[in-house]
Amino acid sequence: MQGKRILLIVGGGIAAYKACELIRLIRKEGGSVRCVLTKSGEQFVTPMTLAALSEQEVHTSLWNLKDEVEMGHIQLSREADLVVVCPATADLLAKMAAGIADDLATTLLLATDKPVLAVPAMNVRMWLHPATQRNVAQLRADGITVLEPDEGEMACGEFGPGRLPEPTDILKAIKPFVSSEVETHARAERRNIGARQGFSTSLEANGKLAGKHIIVTAGPTHESIDPVRIIANRSSGKQGYAIAEALGAMGARVTLVSGPVSLATPANVARVDVQTASEMLDAVEQALPADAAILVAAVADWRVAASPSKLKKSAGPPQLQWTANPDILATLAQSPQRPGLLVGFAAETDNVVAEAQAKRVRKGCDWIVANDVSGDVMGGDTNEIHLVTQDGVEHWDAASKADVARRLAERIADALA
Ligand code: CTP
Repeated sequence: MQGKRILLIVGGGIAAYKACELIRLIRKEGGSVRCVLTKSGEQFVTPMTLAALSEQEVHTSLWNLKDEVEMGHIQLSREADLVVVCPATADLLAKMAAGIADDLATTLLLATDKPVLAVPAMNVRMWLHPATQRNVAQLRADGITVLEPDEGEMACGEFGPGRLPEPTDILKAIKPFVSSEVETHARAERRNIGARQGFSTSLEANGKLAGKHIIVTAGPTHESIDPVRIIANRSSGKQGYAIAEALGAMGARVTLVSGPVSLATPANVARVDVQTASEMLDAVEQALPADAAILVAAVADWRVAASPSKLKKSAGPPQLQWTANPDILATLAQSPQRPGLLVGFAAETDNVVAEAQAKRVRKGCDWIVANDVSGDVMGGDTNEIHLVTQDGVEHWDAASKADVARRLAERIADALA
C-alpha cells in the first residue's frame, strides 16, 4: 500500500463506522485516504471524524467553489489509484448502475478513470431484492468490482447476507488493485534492477497481461425444464474462477461469464452472471473483442422446451423435447472477431488425450486443457491436466486449481506476448 492513494466514498449506512477502521488500516500500511462523504453518510459519521482519521480534507458537496478552483471534481476522481465505495448502499449501487450523477460521490464515480471497488452493506432483503441484484450484475458487467457482503446478524435484527465485510477483508480486496499499480512502476524499474526472486518475479508476472482483454467462462449452465426443475451439471466453477483471478492478477482486463455458482467474484475481474448456454453465448459475444478467450464452463449440450407450468408427477414421466444448444467455443472459433488465442477445456472420462486432440481440431480452438473427470475433480480443489496444443501434449502433475490457473495464465501471457 506504500504511497497508494485511495479515494474513499462513504455512503449512508450503519456500517459507515467500519469505514473509519478501514482508513486506519490503509494508513497503517502506508497508503493515504481522501474521503468523500455522502449526505446520508453524514447521518452516521461526521466529516470531522473522517478528516481526523485521514488527516485530509473531507469532501461533501459538489457545489464547493473552493474545490472547483483548487481541485475540480474530475481531478479529485482521477488523482487516486483506486476508488473505494464503503459502505455502498442499495441507493448508491442503483445510482452507479444507472449512471446518475446528482451529488459529489456519484459524479466522481461517473467521472473517474480509475478502478472502482464497491463494498455493499444493507439489509438482507434489500441486498437480495431483484433490483439490487440486477444493479450489482450491471456494475460487474461494467467492470466495477462489487464485493459479496458477509452473512450474519444485522444491525436491524435480521439474519443473512448484507453485512459489510470486516475491514481487514476489505483491505485484502484492495491490495491487488494497488499492487498492479506498483507493478506498472516496477516494470520500468525491472530492466535496471534485474530479476529478484519472489517479490519481483510476481511483480513481473503481474504486468505481463496489462492492456489485454481476456474472456473466461466458468461454472455450469442451468436449462429450465419447468419453473422448479433444471438440467444442471456438477461443475463448481472453481477452476474457471481461479483462472480469471490469475489472469486479473497479471494485469489483464478479465470478463468472467459465469453460470450459477456460489463463489465470490475474484478481485480485478468483471463478472457477468448467466443461467443458460444461450445467455452465456450472448454474454461472450457482447464482451468481444478480446485478445484471448478461455472457455472453462461446463455448458449443457442440450436444452428442452421448458414448460411454463410445473410438470405434475401424476402425468407420468414427461416427454422432453430436446434441442441442441449453441457451441460457444466452436461459434467463437468461426467468428470474424475470433480472439487471437482460443482455449477450450475437455472434461473426459475415457481416452482423455485422444478425445482432447480430436476436440481441438473439431472445435477449431488453439489449445485444449484436458482433464480426467472420472475422480473427484468436479467440485474438488485439485486438478491434473494435459495441455493439448498444435505442438503436442504436455502432462502437468496434479496441483491445486489455483496453481494450475497460475501456470496456465503464465502460458497465456507468453502466447500473447
Ligand atoms: N463448450 C461450449 N459450448 C457448448 C459445449 C461446450 O463452449 N455448448 C466448450 C466448453 O466450455 C469446453 C469445450 O467446449 O471448453 C469442450 O466441452 P465438452 O463438453 O468437453 O465438449 P463437447 O463438445 O460437449 O463434447 P462431449 O461430446 O465430450 O461432451
